[in-house]
Amino acid sequence: MNRRPKLAADDWRLMTEDKFYITTPIYYVNARPHVGHAYTTIVCDSIARRQRMLGKDTFFLTGTDEHGVNVERAAVAAGQDPQLWVDEIAAAFRATAEKVGVRYDKFIRTTDAEHKRGVQALFRALRDEGYIYKGHYTGQYCISDNLYVDAAGSGAPCPECGRPTETISEENYFFKLSAFEDKLLRYYQEHPEFIRPETRRNEVMSFVRGGLRDLSISRSTFKWGIPAPDDPGHVIYVWLDALSNYITAIGYGSPHKKDQERFARYWPADVHMIGKEIVRFHCVYWPAFLMAAGLPLPRTIMAHGWLLFEESKMSKTRGNIVRAETVVDVLGADALRYFLLREVAFGQDGSFSFDALVQRFNSDLANDYGNLASRTLTMIQRYFRGEVPYASATASRTAADNAIAELAGQVIAECSSLFDDYQFSRALECVWSLVAAVNKYIVENEPWALGEKEDEQSRSRLATILYTAAEALRVVTALVHPVIPESSARIWQQLGLGDIGKFRLDRLKWGQLEVGTKLGKVEPVFPRADKSAVERMQALEQQGRPVPAAVAEAKKPPATATPRPKPVQLAAGQEPAGAGARAGQRATEAIAAPAPASGPAPATPTKAAPAPPEGKISIDDFAKIEMRVGQVKVAERVKGTDKLLRLEVDMGSEVRQIVAGIAEAYAPETLVGRKIVIVTNLAPRKLRGLESNGMLLAASAEGGKPVLAGFLEDVPVGAKLK
Ligand code: MSP
Repeated sequence: MNRRPKLAADDWRLMTEDKFYITTPIYYVNARPHVGHAYTTIVCDSIARRQRMLGKDTFFLTGTDEHGVNVERAAVAAGQDPQLWVDEIAAAFRATAEKVGVRYDKFIRTTDAEHKRGVQALFRALRDEGYIYKGHYTGQYCISDNLYVDAAGSGAPCPECGRPTETISEENYFFKLSAFEDKLLRYYQEHPEFIRPETRRNEVMSFVRGGLRDLSISRSTFKWGIPAPDDPGHVIYVWLDALSNYITAIGYGSPHKKDQERFARYWPADVHMIGKEIVRFHCVYWPAFLMAAGLPLPRTIMAHGWLLFEESKMSKTRGNIVRAETVVDVLGADALRYFLLREVAFGQDGSFSFDALVQRFNSDLANDYGNLASRTLTMIQRYFRGEVPYASATASRTAADNAIAELAGQVIAECSSLFDDYQFSRALECVWSLVAAVNKYIVENEPWALGEKEDEQSRSRLATILYTAAEALRVVTALVHPVIPESSARIWQQLGLGDIGKFRLDRLKWGQLEVGTKLGKVEPVFPRADKSAVERMQALEQQGRPVPAAVAEAKKPPATATPRPKPVQLAAGQEPAGAGARAGQRATEAIAAPAPASGPAPATPTKAAPAPPEGKISIDDFAKIEMRVGQVKVAERVKGTDKLLRLEVDMGSEVRQIVAGIAEAYAPETLVGRKIVIVTNLAPRKLRGLESNGMLLAASAEGGKPVLAGFLEDVPVGAKLK
């Protein structure tokens, strides 16, 4: 079995000191990857690379969090099977990680069979230990954060994201979180390194001191999750499912010996790296689950700040995301990696901007480091036929040479301790102090002037200067390799040192560069970015912006694996008794009517736009339909029919009455407060004597009930869909 209750956490750690296990959060698949996600993954990758270079047997885990009601709803709204939906986005996360130069050891998906088995094993372990019981939960739930919001009234906003919570009332399994209050507090006290930075540790401690209530750990009103063992009517709460990835990925719950050995080798994790918004789940729930199951706790949970773009957290909700691919395509992966680690004081929020990115790239990489490499290597090529020259220990040696050697030694020590203390920006700043010192040393010692002379004294002095510069370049390159792996590997090759992946960083010290080392082919590694770089990135971002749902829908090839719902069913404004399909048809016609095959071409002042191909519409046709976000203020049944609801919908600038055929699918009280999509420029119609001024959008599978179109993120009332 995987459980080793007899061993204290620290005993286990001693046994596996030569290993290092680091994890990222697993990312929700309801948003495509952006630089904010890449930030955490890149930081972890840099740490993992450094640990590998230090000779540690390193395991780096990342992946995707794919269950939950919001994923199920999003997939249904897009007319897709949830599995196909999550497959596509998980693949995008994996591709982005690879594009930014991330070398993970495993990419876990919570829909993997091994993970499901492991989560069920953990659930059983908690149950066997007597920490799970059945009860009834009535209260608010935020589907976006998967957070139970205790003691809040109906419709209350989520304290984390501000979106409206949903009232749920279900029979659930509960975890006895309350039993862990004292144990957790004691653990935090005794292990100051468990939660970092200190501010987060204090927040968590005061949260736990405020008292812990038992936690609902199952849901029974949707299916997209891992069934509870022996009770498949319940799916396991998505955070218990998600957090378990850290153990299931390395073999927890597996019957195979090989997996059990892997688990014993790598668990407990050395670092769970997370963003600051998920501290409570990781620092309260997760250690309590582990304690309950008799498993050791991770060594450190490190919470970093947010990456801000245009002053607010980069997120799909705010529509202010930048994709990592954009930066990589214009400046390369290392530019992004360096920028993120150098620019942001780790732990605090930091700003992302294209201007700052280009400026950092040009000044630190192209100018400072790039120049040091190219001038040093080019001069060795030119003056010493490409072989590292001998540095005199006596005659032509000056205090300046010794100062560089001394500084390099200090930088090795200081950079390492700053890096291992998560102070990446300061660690890089420290390395760049060496880069700057060597560049200054080169300028002051004018090796190019010595290169013109033939006398022995000048040659010897030149050799000493170039050896010193090349050795400093080697030290810098080894230290920055975890952060900028691709370009540092190239410079290492140019230094004639072969594969940097084989170099042991813990053995780095001044003077290891061997005289006579034959340089590789010398070529520039960081071509300066010109003014157009920012514009190119902006243009790529514009092109890559997610396409609005309606257009994206039209672009997708028809799904084959699942029955496809009708494109857009308009569930409003028409009596739907058997007429849902007709209503849908009308809407489709309104959007999709092809241009007449013959007849006069529309007069255009400039070039005539090419007619869209048969069966397609032009963007102008699409633009005729105005769709906006509205919020339901009032919803009530229309007397004399059980099909229609009368809604009053706030459109931002006005409140409209809409009569919609959704009474069989939605109870009126569940609609109040909900944001929906309204076609606003349809001529009004009368239904049962009531004027319906607009039409709401919903999808429905053949014979199924209509499902209202909505948004996973918050969106202002009145916002236009285009
Ligand atoms: N699925 C949960 C985590 C489960 S872990 C067992 C989740 N997913 S998430 O997609 O919302 O991603 C959260 C993580 O992505 C954050 O904790 C953070 O590491 C990273 N970031 C997402 N946006 C970010 C920024 N704008 N800035 C910095 N990090 C960001 O929560």
